[in-house]
Amino acid sequence: MKKTWWKESVIYQIYPRSFADSNGDGIGDLNGITSKLDYLKELGIDVIWLSPVYKSPNDDNGYDISDYEAIMDEFGTMEDFDRMLAAAHARGIKIVMDLVVNHTSDEHEWFIESRASKDNPKRDYYIWREGRDGKEPNNWGSWFSGSAWKYDETTDMYYLHLFSPKQPDLNWDNPVVRQEVFDMMTRWCEKGIDGFRMDVISLISKPAGLPDAPLMNELYGDCGCTANGPHVHEYLQEMNEKVLSKFDIMTVGETACVTLEEAKKYANSEGTELNMVFQFEHVGLDGDAEFKWSTRKMPLIPLKENLTKWQKGLDGVAWNSLYFCNHDQPRVINRLGNPSDEYREISAKCIATCLHMMQGTPYVYQGEELGMTNYPFRSVKDFNDLESINAFYELTEKMGWDPEEIFPKIANKSRDNARTPMQWDDSPNAGFTTGTPWLAVNPNYKKINAAEQVNRADSVFSYYKKLIELRHQYDIIVYGSYDLLLPEDPDLYVYTREFEGHKLLVVCNFSESRREFFPDEEFREGKVLIQNNVGCDIFDGRLEPYEAYVIYI
Ligand code: GLC
Ligand code: CA
Repeated sequence: MKKTWWKESVIYQIYPRSFADSNGDGIGDLNGITSKLDYLKELGIDVIWLSPVYKSPNDDNGYDISDYEAIMDEFGTMEDFDRMLAAAHARGIKIVMDLVVNHTSDEHEWFIESRASKDNPKRDYYIWREGRDGKEPNNWGSWFSGSAWKYDETTDMYYLHLFSPKQPDLNWDNPVVRQEVFDMMTRWCEKGIDGFRMDVISLISKPAGLPDAPLMNELYGDCGCTANGPHVHEYLQEMNEKVLSKFDIMTVGETACVTLEEAKKYANSEGTELNMVFQFEHVGLDGDAEFKWSTRKMPLIPLKENLTKWQKGLDGVAWNSLYFCNHDQPRVINRLGNPSDEYREISAKCIATCLHMMQGTPYVYQGEELGMTNYPFRSVKDFNDLESINAFYELTEKMGWDPEEIFPKIANKSRDNARTPMQWDDSPNAGFTTGTPWLAVNPNYKKINAAEQVNRADSVFSYYKKLIELRHQYDIIVYGSYDLLLPEDPDLYVYTREFEGHKLLVVCNFSESRREFFPDEEFREGKVLIQNNVGCDIFDGRLEPYEAYVIYI
């Protein structure tokens, strides 16, 4: 297997709006990020993935971009960006940008022109269709509820938006559009950025003729018909040839609805497309039958089965990303651990051990390294995210669900859980801002915050720091092959890794009960690399609730 820096890196995702506010307007910004680089250096991460910082009307918090080459007013200026990039590089930290090119904002100059008339030179930059019998051109649903089509009076036609109506889809079949995107990417690379995380990149190639989706879920986009489209690999190979291959950068595709077979193409180890992809199967395991909204916990046996399929399936042929958390996912402690005072820290460490010892590049989402938890939402008025708000009204008003029944499900899975401000210390607003935060701070910030954890040896922060250090020290953690033990055990996640004559044993008890597990004889002579129940005797076979450890031979 070829060794590269991006396989050996740990990536930290920043959601700039919620990270650190430098000027008291309640919104995180670039200077705020610059002021916290030493904190990230202390944690030991190698790369920052920055959620979008481009000019945007913020219908979807920056994922609706109106100018790819300007900075969002609230976040600062291009000079602030350059200073942040230089300061990160000075500390040996790389910066990967979010590339959102399945769609733009409807306020992007391209779209303003495109909608102006049928013969505008930019008309074909987007996907316009005539209505069908006075209705939408097909039955596709938007990922943010409702139809994926919006009627536009100016030319009496509809445009496609797989997300919000303020996020019209670009027409990737138009070579001029592709070249515009590639040129823009080249300019960012020349500026010295270190890579791209590509937003819903699996959706860029739409099926020819835009046929009705066979299995339409009225509420949400149907994976089957818009993901992994007919030309997606061709377009990514073209991007690779014209841009990516010219720079020493890393790329990760956010590949909604990706299958193992598709991932082998997107992230193939010949390097003709992207370096790695985010798959979504494991974070869908706690959803309800029809949609993601639910109050269920993640079931461990299917989780093991799924992650094992990806670990084994991509070994040697492509590369995994390892994640539970990002700005679209609720906090993992609530899904897989236990947020109570008794178990919060130990369960956070157990989850982290399980993920960080796998093959792939791990991603840490801001606050995850502190064990931050979901927010106690009480009503739909507490939400900011359009996906949660739309889903609530769509399900209650149009579909007739009981609000009392659906609200807790949406609250439990809302993207806003991840977007509450970073908890820096126990001063007002958790030290995130001196003003009024754009989204309420989690009331548990006096207990859970960075200041309390950075210098405490047994904190979640110190544990993440140690996991990151281990990955930098041991090749086997990065490159070793993976094998699952005890596939049918509902509480224990146990696996081994193997590389160049060495072995790792990873043991995690994902339950609130005491369990028994005796490591194989061969591990007796091994070295305990990390354990979250410090000082206990591993070989007595007793596993406390959420106990986790790793042995190396
Ligand atoms: C991706 C982003 C998400 C955004 C959507 C539309 O899934 O991660 O935050 O809403 O794409 O751009
Ligand atoms: Ca600010």
